[in-house]
Amino acid sequence: MSTIKACIFDLDGVIVDTAVYHYKAWKRLADELGINFTEHDNERLKGVSRVRSLEIILELGHVTKTPEEQQELATRKNDWYVEMINRMTPAEILPGAKEFLETCRAAGIKTALGSASKNSSTILNKIGLSHLFDTIVDGNHVSKAKPDPEVFLKGAEALGVIPAECVVFEDAIAGVEAAIIGGMKVVGIGLPEVLGEANIVISGLDKMSLEILREL
Ligand code: BG6
Ligand code: MG
Repeated sequence: MSTIKACIFDLDGVIVDTAVYHYKAWKRLADELGINFTEHDNERLKGVSRVRSLEIILELGHVTKTPEEQQELATRKNDWYVEMINRMTPAEILPGAKEFLETCRAAGIKTALGSASKNSSTILNKIGLSHLFDTIVDGNHVSKAKPDPEVFLKGAEALGVIPAECVVFEDAIAGVEAAIIGGMKVVGIGLPEVLGEANIVISGLDKMSLEILREL
């Protein structure tokens, strides 16, 4: 008998593929700073906070900036990123995401967003999915970044469930670790060789079902 009462979804890479927009904005900033930044480097930024992402890029270029300069650079990158996500449409929802959220809710399973992004409300509004989440916890509500489980624990608390009753859906290694540390089950979205620590790994939410959820 399954004890799963809630599903907690990461946003970027699980519900939508915003990595391409993050990359374009970081690339523009890196170019301005004369730092060589590739799509391969961008993989390291998945699931990582905005501040930490900038630190990684500056490290790549062996560039040092004061905290004030870093703040200004992160804001500049975010302004470009927001310009792009403001143009997003429901067509950008990843396959199966909307359907699986609806399936969960129809089955009485609660849903939460658990994202590092401070832009999650903008994205959810643009793609028209806000109404499918019982609660939203994002980068505006947490002080500790994944792999710290804070974002998922806050989600569980808001839903009134305990960690053992939750399944997390994550595409980033740090997110999979956060779920495990938080005492939750976790479905990896991506490649088994990358997310091997998850209970199972699937290529996308279009491969998810209540049957699989109950067998976790
Ligand atoms: C995560 C992304 O969801 O959010 C990271 O995977 C990103 O790449 C992080 O850095 C923070 O996002 P934002 O929108 O607050 O800059
Ligand atoms: Mg993600």
